Amino acid sequence: MRPALAARLAGQRLARGQAGLERVREPLDRIDPVVVELDGKRLVNFCSNDYLGLATHPDVADAMARAARGDFGNRLRQSGGVGSSASALVSGYTRPQRELERALADFLGFEDALVVSSGYQANLAIGQALLDRSDAVLGDRLNHASLNDGARLAGARLRRYRHNDIDDARAKMAQSPADRVRWIASDGVFSMDGDLAPLPALAKLADRHDLGLWLDDAHGFGVVGEKGRGIHEHLGVSSEKIDAFVVTFGKSLGTQGAVIAADRALIEALVNRARGVIYSTAMAPPLAAATGCALNLLKQQSWRRRRLHDNIRCFCERAAAAGIALASSATAIQPIIIGDNIRALALANGLAERGFLARAIRPPTVPIGRARLRITLSAAHRPEHIAGLVDAMEDLMT
Ligand SMILES: Cc1ncc(COP(=O)(O)O)c(C=O)c1O
Repeated sequence: MRPALAARLAGQRLARGQAGLERVREPLDRIDPVVVELDGKRLVNFCSNDYLGLATHPDVADAMARAARGDFGNRLRQSGGVGSSASALVSGYTRPQRELERALADFLGFEDALVVSSGYQANLAIGQALLDRSDAVLGDRLNHASLNDGARLAGARLRRYRHNDIDDARAKMAQSPADRVRWIASDGVFSMDGDLAPLPALAKLADRHDLGLWLDDAHGFGVVGEKGRGIHEHLGVSSEKIDAFVVTFGKSLGTQGAVIAADRALIEALVNRARGVIYSTAMAPPLAAATGCALNLLKQQSWRRRRLHDNIRCFCERAAAAGIALASSATAIQPIIIGDNIRALALANGLAERGFLARAIRPPTVPIGRARLRITLSAAHRPEHIAGLVDAMEDLMT
């Protein structure tokens, strides 16, 4: 490496280390749905987004392997293969992706859907296809980075309102030239706090000012709503009130990728204008087949969602009894706010020594001074895992 670059990187690394902000990747071995091994030590994983325990489901793995071998049942005869080999507009769009789009559009209650390779890509696609420099977006201050990046990279102005504060959203609206604000963007279930967006009020604001409503329910899908459709089902808001609905596959479905569900006209705009759709290889067909299988399991096995909620309750009751301060979340994401970065890291290390994996989430993922342990629960956790975690936390924190 050339000296100027090396010096620059070393300076940045030193600053990150001093602030407790250095991040590292650690290769894990998966032992079972919730146990991983790190450097020879077994840890119960409390920081995965595999909320329903589908990531290691044998049927999902089989669907992927069968699709790669070209076995789609008797209905379809295809050569199989792994990669899609081209972008969707060239020749990478195949029947498994289309079937997945139709199944998701029907289940979520939208006219059509577009599958892309990641949730991050989905939000960039929406920004790019639907916004330009003359637009402004009202966004919750705690929105996921991909919503912010989607708006900003399109050149739109992002007006961030206080978390879940509709009055502040209205005030921010009033501060912008009225014809510029075209969208409200929000997480459904907030990724770092686990609380819910005030969707009925957001929909009302969108109605009143004729704004598009862009909702990313990566963490609500599969978790909330009677059938697991997500926050709109849970809060009784019609899907017609949501103009662009994003669900990612790397959480409840346990696979990878994302879908944008919307009216057909909006999907057509994405296909024609989103550079991440036009200039990127389409999702691998076996991944689409595996995701379709996971979606069927999500629909058929509602006991997974019930077990997840039993586990969430069990964690909250035990933590409260142990004197651990909880945030106001009734979802799988349970943040334990620590504040200081280095203390959060020390607690995460202490938990790892006691056999539990829970990462310290620090800025810029969360606001400065709000470092936390982000505990995530899964239907695959057993009561003894949760009891052990809370005992370890009590030991370290109280
Ligand atoms: C709310 C939200 N949206 C989008 C994403 C990005 O999805 P993906 O991991 O599929 O890129 C995430 C996290 O991964 C998320 O939490």
